[in-house]
Amino acid sequence: MSITEQLDRTQLHRAAEILGRGGVVAFPTETVFGLGADATNSSAIQSLFEAKGRPSDNPLIVHLADFSQLDGVCRDIPPIAARLFERWSPGPLTLVMRKQSVISSLATAGLDTVAVRFPSHPIARELCRLAGVPIAAPSANVSGRPSSTTWKAVMEDLQGRIDAIVCEDGCEIGLESTVVDLTSRLPTLLRPGSIGFEELQSEIPDLQWRNASTTANANSSAVANSPGLRHRHYQPRAKVKLGHPDELHESMYRVAYIGIGDWVGPTLSLDCRCSSIEEYAAKVYEFFREADRRSIDTIYCEKVESRGVGAALMDRLRRAAEDRTDSSGTH
Ligand code: TXA
Ligand code: MG
Repeated sequence: MSITEQLDRTQLHRAAEILGRGGVVAFPTETVFGLGADATNSSAIQSLFEAKGRPSDNPLIVHLADFSQLDGVCRDIPPIAARLFERWSPGPLTLVMRKQSVISSLATAGLDTVAVRFPSHPIARELCRLAGVPIAAPSANVSGRPSSTTWKAVMEDLQGRIDAIVCEDGCEIGLESTVVDLTSRLPTLLRPGSIGFEELQSEIPDLQWRNASTTANANSSAVANSPGLRHRHYQPRAKVKLGHPDELHESMYRVAYIGIGDWVGPTLSLDCRCSSIEEYAAKVYEFFREADRRSIDTIYCEKVESRGVGAALMDRLRRAAEDRTDSSGTH
């Protein structure tokens, strides 16, 4: 493959047609860009894994346009699923349930479960509706890199490696969806997102949260349940540090800062002050990418309170700041 077709919002039929014949298409969602392929077509899923360089043991999220599709994708759907989807869908909530055999086992990395969500971005919804099949879509970045929240970021990573992209933005949330496993003995939060643990607890009082680090708990059951957690994520080339730059830092020349505080320090080459945690979350991945475009060496990220979307943001920042010299994750 050498040319990636650039489509706009008026060409979603074309995007759906490409998906229908087993192609790979990037499209915006309200969280981050997705890299879509037909979840029932194993050779399409194989191409998707190859384009992204994703390890085959990391399962994909299946995107649906309509609640009526759910029974075709999942079986033994627990009553709580309807309650959760009614409250938060369409939107950034992903639920893990038992899978129907029509979903390619490549898409679920051989697991008997499947992660499902109903995106709310109008382009994602319309594309899933036109495609008429469940669309497996991981974040549209090369494996290990920060997720893409603009179509230009997708092109930087994947131009020439995918069939098409819908060139429209609108990833308003900026962090990946909240993932809840409904197949474990107790419902378990696998990945925090903009729908926070506390909010979920109002619907699922017995919700567990196993905070698996990418490296330290590689054998924990949370990681076994969601293999993707052990892989590296969200890392720009620049080194990420949590907190403020040390004012005595020898060379502030290649240093960047993002945060919400009114911290006063030396002038930096790249400096982003956000007015809320939501804005910080929405901007952080593109900020990482901009730092890499400008060959920044070190990115300082202000810590925020680990509640609600703040917990999701801190989860991503900690993973981005993780030491890369250990051997456990290369993706
Ligand atoms: O917001 C999002 O969720 C974005 C947009 C594109 O929808 N997608 C996304 O996909 O973040 P991805 O592939 O980057 O992350 C999927 C996460 C991984 O942590 C993976 O391990 C977990 O969902 N996952 C997928 N299927 C699973 C399953 N059957 N059981 C447990 N975890 C699963
Ligand atoms: Mg991802």
